[in-house]
Amino acid sequence: MDKTILITGGAGFIGSHVVRLFVQKYPNYRIINLDSLTYAGNLENLQDIESAENYTFHKADIRDKDAMDEVFNTYQPDGVIHLAAESHVDRSITDPLAFVYTNVIGTANLLEAAKRIWAGNYEGKRFHHISTDEVFGALGETGFFTEETKYDPHSPYSASKASSDHFVRAYHDTYGLPIVMTNCSNNYGPNHFPEKLIPLCILNILNNKPLPIYGDGKYTRDWLFVVDHARAIDQVFHQAETGTSYNVGGFNEWKNIDLVRELCKQMDTKLGRPPGTSEKLIEFVKDRPGHDLRYAIDANKIKDELGWEPSVTFEEGLSLTIDWFLNNQEWLKQVSSGNYMQYYEDHYSSR
Ligand code: NAD
Ligand code: DAU
Repeated sequence: MDKTILITGGAGFIGSHVVRLFVQKYPNYRIINLDSLTYAGNLENLQDIESAENYTFHKADIRDKDAMDEVFNTYQPDGVIHLAAESHVDRSITDPLAFVYTNVIGTANLLEAAKRIWAGNYEGKRFHHISTDEVFGALGETGFFTEETKYDPHSPYSASKASSDHFVRAYHDTYGLPIVMTNCSNNYGPNHFPEKLIPLCILNILNNKPLPIYGDGKYTRDWLFVVDHARAIDQVFHQAETGTSYNVGGFNEWKNIDLVRELCKQMDTKLGRPPGTSEKLIEFVKDRPGHDLRYAIDANKIKDELGWEPSVTFEEGLSLTIDWFLNNQEWLKQVSSGNYMQYYEDHYSSR
């Protein structure tokens, strides 16, 4: 194997797509998927590649400094792609400290372990931190986030991600750690956990349950198909100059209410229900506290410098996503019942 790449959070939504891309595209890399399997981690997401020769799963918690030191001693990674995080804004409002421990302290533990094991010999080494556009705060009706936009996080989630971004840059500026960073907009696609807007609405439409829209539904997000995010991570990891960061987005803004109406329309067609059936399930509910009005990414830097742009249109991506959920209703059932947590015990506990 030419290189060992440690991918954290590889059992999660985005991480599983990144792991699959790297395992399949780089047979000469040894890919270690490090994940503690929280409620958001599901190894069933990776069933298709779990027996690949260049793939290893390692259960460990990034909050545990000694465990991280041991992992780095064991695998001696050349590269780290760090996705493990608490990722849901609503959960950060009810339990902010969980976000500090995983997103801030967990990231610092990984940075320390990488600094120690690489010991100033940074040739061929890289630490890629995966972050979010939420660190930039909220936009009004116009404008875009660029890589130069000042940080202005509002939720405990975005504050914890902003803090982790600052630690990553500090390790570059202070110790010369070879970092790169990406800040991405809202992802959607297969394996999305049904606490987030799109998969939650798909699940509720299937079960004829209310579709909860926070506030007036005019909040705006920029949506990107998850496989395109994984492609962007691959390009930045391999092509970007050390110390740089790139914004990643879909050039694809939707007000929440318009997005959910579009989803209802497509679901009705695919389920053979009369037009307008699912829209009747929409309910406007109490707003999220500190809800950011609008996010929109200017993704021109990654387009101009690295030649990345989204490969899947929103129309195609949403249709693919709905089809995936319709064809994987067992996955949805397992995830919403909590049964998926048994998968690790059944398949890995004896390894
Ligand atoms: P997710 O919640 O689906 O998955 C997170 C993964 O991290 C899970 O597999 C979980 O088990 C693992 N994990 C959590 N705490 C851990 C710990 N203490 N130790 C080890 N593993 C742990 O998240 P996601 O949506 O796939 O997001 C992945 C990354 O991308 C996060 O850093 C998130 O901030 C960032 N991001 C997400 C989006 C998005 O739209 N989902 C957009 C931009 C950036
Ligand atoms: O922008 C990138 C971020 O996108 C990532 O960093 C986060 O990890 C990811 O969770 C996502 O955050 P959001 O808060 O934007 O995603 P969520 O799906 O929770 O919400 C999308 C929008 O829909 C937001 O304006 C809140 C609204 N919403 C959400 C839920 C769950 C509703 O109106 N009703 C809901 O039930």
